[in-house]
Order: sequence, then C-alpha cells, then structure tokens
Amino acid sequence: MTPNRPSGLLRSARVLIIGLLAIIIVPGLALVMFAINRGVAPGEERVDYLANSVDACVTCHRNTTPGIVEQYSHSTMAAANVTCSQCHEVAVDYPGAIAHEGTYVLNSPTTAKCATCHAAEVAQFNQSRHGLPAYVAMVGVDDIPAELVTMYESIPEAELGPIQARAVLFDIEGEAVTRFACESCHNIGKPAADLSVGQCQKCHIRHEFSLTQARKPETCNNCHIGPDHPQWEIYQESKHGIAYMTGGEHWNWEAEPGTLTTVDFPAPTCAICHMSGFGASGTTHDVGDRLTWYLFAPVSERRPVWQDNRVRMQNVCRECHNNNFIADFYEDADRLVLAINAWVEEGNAIMQPLRDANLLTGTPFDEPVDFTHYELWHHWGRTAKFGAWMQGADYTQWHGAYEMLSDLAELREIGRERLEAAGLPVPEIMLKPNTPPQIPGEPEATPDSAAAVGTAEATIEAMLEGTPVGGQEATPEATAGG
Ligand code: HEC
Ligand code: HEC
Ligand code: HEC
Ligand code: HEC
Ligand code: HEC
Ligand code: HEC
Ligand code: HEC
Ligand code: HEC
Repeated sequence: MTPNRPSGLLRSARVLIIGLLAIIIVPGLALVMFAINRGVAPGEERVDYLANSVDACVTCHRNTTPGIVEQYSHSTMAAANVTCSQCHEVAVDYPGAIAHEGTYVLNSPTTAKCATCHAAEVAQFNQSRHGLPAYVAMVGVDDIPAELVTMYESIPEAELGPIQARAVLFDIEGEAVTRFACESCHNIGKPAADLSVGQCQKCHIRHEFSLTQARKPETCNNCHIGPDHPQWEIYQESKHGIAYMTGGEHWNWEAEPGTLTTVDFPAPTCAICHMSGFGASGTTHDVGDRLTWYLFAPVSERRPVWQDNRVRMQNVCRECHNNNFIADFYEDADRLVLAINAWVEEGNAIMQPLRDANLLTGTPFDEPVDFTHYELWHHWGRTAKFGAWMQGADYTQWHGAYEMLSDLAELREIGRERLEAAGLPVPEIMLKPNTPPQIPGEPEATPDSAAAVGTAEATIEAMLEGTPVGGQEATPEATAGG
C-alpha cells in the first residue's frame, strides 16, 4: 500500500461526491443548453421554406452564397412562395440589369420591385425624410435628375430650407471618406438607376425580412446614434428603453402588423412610437407622420399639419398614459424647444457682428470658431431637444444645455477679442453672462430669477409671429449640413 493511496472509506466518499456532483451538474448543464437554444430560437422551431426548392437560383446559390439562401429560407416571403426572381430578375433593357446565367438580374433590387407587391409601404416611405430628403441632405439637388427634383419638391416635409445646397462637410471630406461615413446612413434615400428611391434593406436586413429584427431599436441604432442625433443612447436611458432592455425578451415581436397592443408591447420602442400601428394610429413607413417640430433644424419650427401629426403620436402615448400626463408633457417639451431655439439664436447673434465686420474667413469649417458655433446647435442644441422629447435627462443636461452654455461663453470671448483687436465697439450680447434662455412672449430672465412660466401655446404663437414659417434665415454654418 503506497502512503498516498486513499483509504477505502475516503475512496467511497469521493465516489459519492462525484455522483452527487453529477446529479447536480448534468441537469444544470441541460438547463444551460436549453437556455442557449432558446436564445437562438425563441418560440417555435424555424422552418426552412426552401428545403425542397428546385428553383435554379436557389439550388445554385445554396453553394455560391449559402448565407443568402439560408437567410431567405426562413422568411415569410419564402413561405408565401415569393421567389428570388420576383425581386431580382428584370428585362434586358431594365436600368442596371446585369446578364446572369441566361437571364438578367439586378444585384440590388430597387423599391420599384418591392412596390409591385408593397405599394403602400413604398408610397409612405417616399413621402418621408427617409426617402429623397435623406439623400438630398448630403448631395443637394444639383446632380439629381429633374424627375427626382420634382418628386422631392412634392414631399410636404421636404420644404424646410436650406436644403438644396450640397452639404459643405460632404465636399470637404471627399468621396474616399464619405463612402464610409455620410453615405452609409444617408443612402437610405438614394435613388437607383431606375429612378425609384431608397433602400428598404437598411432596416429589413436582407434576406430575412424579419419583423422582429425591423422592430427592434437596434435596427435604428445603425444611424440614429452619436453626438448629433443620439436617439439610441437617449432611448437606452429612458424608462421606455429600460423596460425594453430588462423585459423585451418576453414581448411579442412577431405580432401581425396593425394588431399590436400593450399586451404585445408593454412599453414602446422606436418603431412603436414612430411607425407601428398602435392604438388609434395605423402602421406607417412615413417616419415624419407623427412629428410636430423640425427638431433637427438649428432653430426648430412647426411642421406642415403638425396638429394632425401630434394626434397620431399622442394616440400611441394614450395606450399607456392618461390625457393630462400627455398634455402636460407636450406643453413642457414644446417650451424646451423654444428655450433651446433662444440659445441658438443667441449664438447666431454673437456671430453676426463678426460676419458683418468681415472678421470671419467666410469659408465654413476653416477656423475653430466655425466648429464651436456649429456644435452649439448641431450637436448640443439638437441633443437637448431629443433628450427632452424621448426622456434622456443626461442628454438634455450634460450633453445638451451645459455644452451650449460652454460654447456660448467661448463664442462671446472670441467675439470680444476679435472686435477689440479690430478697434470696433463690443456689443452688449458679447458682454453679458450666461442666462436662462429668453423665450419669446415670456418675462425676461436673469441668472438670479428664472423666467416666469407662460403658457406654451402663447409662447409658440409669439415665436411663430416672430419667425416666418419655412423662411428661417440660413447662416453659412447652418447650411453646412450633418
Ligand atoms: C449556375 C449557378 C447560378 C445560377 C443558376 C444563378 N446564379 Fe446568381 N450567381 C452565381 C454566381 C457564381 C455568382 C457570383 C458571381 C461573382 O461572384 O462574380 C452569382 C451572383 C449573383 C448575384 C450578384 C450579382 C452581382 O454582380 O453583384 C445575384 C443578384 C444573383 N446571382 C442572383 C441570381 C438569381 C436571381 C438567379 C435566378 C434567376 C441566379 N442568380 C441564378 C451563380 C448562379
Ligand atoms: C424581397 C426581395 C428579394 C428576394 C426575394 C431576394 N433578394 Fe437578393 N437581394 C435583395 C436586395 C434588396 C438586395 C440588395 C442588398 C444589398 O445590396 O445590400 C439583394 C442582394 C442579393 C445579392 C447580392 C448581394 C451580395 O452580398 O452579394 C445576391 C447574390 C442575392 N441577393 C441573391 C438572392 C437569392 C439567391 C435569392 C433567393 C434565394 C434572393 N436574392 C431573393 C432582395 C431580394
Ligand atoms: C412578388 C411580390 C413581392 C415582392 C416583389 C416583394 N414582396 Fe415582400 N412580401 C410579399 C408577400 C406575399 C409577403 C408575405 C405577407 C404575409 O405573409 O403577410 C411579404 C412580406 C414582406 C415583409 C413582412 C415580413 C413579415 O414577417 O410579415 C417585408 C418586411 C417585406 N415583404 C419587404 C419587402 C421588400 C423590402 C421588398 C423589395 C426589396 C419586397 N418585400 C418585395 C410579396 C412581395
Ligand atoms: C426605418 C426602418 C424601415 C425602413 C427603411 C423600411 N421598413 Fe418596412 N418595416 C419597418 C418596421 C419597423 C416594420 C414593422 C411595423 C410594425 O411594427 O407593424 C416594417 C414592416 C414592413 C412590412 C410589413 C407591413 C405589414 O403591414 O404587413 C412591409 C411589407 C415592409 N415593411 C416593406 C418595406 C418596404 C417595401 C420598404 C422600402 C420602401 C421598407 N419596408 C422600408 C421598418 C422599416
Ligand atoms: C441607414 C440609416 C437609417 C436607419 C437604419 C434608420 N434611419 Fe431614421 N433617419 C435616417 C436619416 C439619414 C434621417 C434624416 C433624413 C433627413 O432629414 O435628411 C432619418 C430621419 C428619421 C426620422 C425623422 C424624420 C423627419 O421627418 O424628420 C425619424 C423619426 C426616424 N428617422 C426614425 C427611424 C426609426 C424608428 C428607425 C428604425 C426602425 C430608423 N429611423 C432607422 C437614417 C436612418
Ligand atoms: C415614447 C415614444 C418614442 C420613442 C420610444 C422614441 N421616440 Fe423618437 N420621438 C418621439 C417624440 C414624441 C419626438 C418629438 C416629436 C415632435 O416633434 O412632435 C421624437 C423625435 C424623434 C426624432 C427627431 C425628428 C426631428 O424632427 O429631428 C427622431 C430622429 C427620432 N425621434 C428617432 C427615434 C429613434 C431612432 C428611437 C429609438 C432609438 C426613438 N425615436 C424612440 C417619440 C419617441
Ligand atoms: C406601451 C406603453 C407605453 C407607451 C405607448 C408610451 N409609454 Fe411612456 N412610459 C411607459 C412606461 C411603462 C413608463 C415607466 C413608468 C414608470 O416609471 O413607472 C413610461 C414612462 C414615461 C415617462 C416618465 C419618464 C420618467 O423618467 O419618469 C414619460 C415622460 C413618458 N413615458 C412619455 C411618453 C410619451 C410622450 C409617449 C408617447 C409619445 C409614451 N410615453 C408612450 C409606457 C408607455
Ligand atoms: C451615423 C449615421 C449618419 C452619418 C454618418 C451622417 N448622418 Fe446626417 N443624419 C443622420 C440622421 C439619423 C439624421 C436625422 C436627425 C434627425 O432627424 O433628428 C441626420 C440629419 C442630417 C441633416 C439634417 C436633415 C436635413 O435633411 O437637412 C443633414 C443636412 C445631414 N444629416 C447631412 C450629413 C452629412 C453631410 C454627413 C457626412 C458629413 C452626415 N449627415 C453623416 C445620420 C447620419
């Protein structure tokens, strides 16, 4: 007997322990495996609708591009017998046609193809700023065909100036960069060779065309993110986003469009508020259909038919919040917009004497002051507004209001220095300290006495009187885009 050999008693204890561990671990592992499997395929098994397909595109592409066939095989369109050819195959003379295996195909089927079966979605999309306006925001209208300019002009919500100009940043950065920057987001509205507009696949990631995927806020996160439009970040810190992140796995992501209720979605996602049929509002692919303000603009104005849009958005809120709550929320958020407008106008007013006295170069984005002025409205002003409307306090405060105050102080200092160096008088606006924003129609505010609260409708009316709707003056910085 070697000294370190375990005794019979110890050995049987060890066997017992191993046995007990096995009893605990094996079912534990089984549970883990079960959970992982559920993670991959919640609910029922995924059906392969192309399993027995003899379609030539499918059988050959199963080898050539197995990923595409695999994705498409689980889609409801495959289930409905929509074939590869119905999207891809075109006549020889179709714009963009490529000869392929004895026929002609589009490598990227256009919205004209989708429209043959989904006319309503395509028409709504075309009326929205996801359509042509998104593309024009980048490249302007100079290089796009006349038919499309006409189409652009017929979109009610495209009217907002200063649009037609090619975005300055787009030009300064150049194609080698913008191909991976502006274009990857703004091509959502890119026209195709057949002059139909837009890329549905930006949200319906090909070839699954899955409702679950399109409805999840991560889909919008592809573009609605970053310092100038942090809707994704704001959503994540909102109560709605917290509900999604802590319970979303139990929501009914595959519910039939147009039938969604609070049982399917106990809290809203981006799509619920902006697109899905919910409560009294129908499903739409026009993402501007429920918006009252042009929040992205330097100085926000009301949209055409904003009252109808407001009803449609509030119909969604009303499924979960009471009328007074919604009315109060809208009144306060409207007032926040006016407040941010006032600070942006103050920034413009500080820049104006410098421009008048030729103390700016006149070329956008060639000196640090241009960037400060641009970020004042384009990053922080927007972010403050988005944070209020979508309940992200950190964005309204620390990435919004606070940064605006910092930029206003910097602009005043630059203004004073340049005017003094030029021997010119320094206007009052460059000598004052930071103060609460002066909302039109409300008593003047000082740092010690915050403004008295007026009614939002009165102040909005005052604002609208002061600003010709649709005719806000564009500074070079404001037209710079982004
Ligand atoms: C006999 C095999 C075969 C058949 C049949 C076939 N393809 Fe292809 N397809 C290919 C191969 C191989 C490529 C890749 C070519 C390459 O990478 O240069 C391809 C490429 C494509 C592309 C990309 C073209 C591009 O230039 O970007 C599309 C779209 C496409 N096929 C669609 C279809 C459709 C739709 C059908 C049925 C009408 C079809 N294919 C039938 C083999 C096939
Ligand atoms: C509902 C319309 C639709 C159907 C059906 C469809 N496609 Fe596509 N396909 C698209 C769109 C849209 C794109 C362009 C996506 C892009 O470029 O990002 C595309 C792109 C492609 C490409 C080129 C993309 C690449 O990465 O190489 C191939 C190849 C292709 N499809 C093959 C197929 C095959 C094979 C089938 C059938 C199994 C099929 N498609 C069914 C819409 C469709
Ligand atoms: C030949 C007709 C046809 C074409 C072309 C077509 N679709 Fe479809 N699509 C259908 C049918 C049929 C359904 C299934 C409807 C259903 O089951 O309720 C569908 C469903 C869908 C769905 C909903 C999926 C779901 O789970 O409910 C999306 C998204 C979609 N299509 C997007 C597109 C896009 C984007 C294009 C163009 C690239 C396109 N379709 C082209 C016929 C078509
Ligand atoms: C901004 C993202 C986005 C874009 C771009 C987009 N979709 Fe959708 N789509 C969605 C969402 C989200 C839904 C689910 C709506 C809901 O919750 O009921 C949807 C649903 C659909 C459905 C099913 C609707 C129904 O009532 O059965 C079709 C069909 C569809 N989309 C087609 C298209 C077509 C065609 C395009 C391009 C013109 C397109 N989509 C572009 C996000 C998008
Ligand atoms: C591929 C990029 C991309 C994706 C994905 C995307 N968007 Fe957008 N979205 C844009 C761009 C670009 C604009 C600005 C267009 C403009 O005003 O020039 C925009 C504008 C909007 C607007 C404002 C429309 C208006 O009238 O001012 C809303 C609301 C919106 N998107 C919602 C969504 C939602 C919800 C999703 C996800 C379901 C989504 N977007 C997905 C790029 C995208
Ligand atoms: C609780 C509903 C709700 C949710 C959830 C929500 N939004 Fe919004 N969103 C709003 C409201 C309300 C406004 C401002 C409406 C107005 O102008 O009247 C707004 C404004 C916007 C705008 C600004 C449009 C402009 O004028 O510049 C964009 C873009 C946008 N949302 C995208 C998103 C995205 C992307 C998500 C998800 C990450 C999201 N929203 C989540 C309700 C919501
Ligand atoms: C599907 C249900 C649902 C919809 C639709 C919905 N909300 Fe909410 N909302 C919630 C839930 C759940 C909470 C968290 C309640 C709590 O804090 O106890 C919430 C909270 C809020 C809060 C309080 C945020 C905070 O930080 O305390 C505001 C403000 C709000 N929602 C505004 C809106 C607006 C505006 C709309 C419509 C544009 C809307 N909600 C649509 C479910 C919804
Ligand atoms: C990460 C995606 C993304 C990139 C990259 C991007 N944008 Fe945008 N852009 C958006 C979104 C989303 C909006 C909508 C904001 C809103 O409506 O609140 C927008 C809004 C705009 C607007 C204001 C809307 C309008 O139509 O006037 C302009 C102009 C613009 N972008 C131009 C550009 C230019 C030029 C570049 C490159 C220098 C660029 N963008 C890069 C996503 C992007």
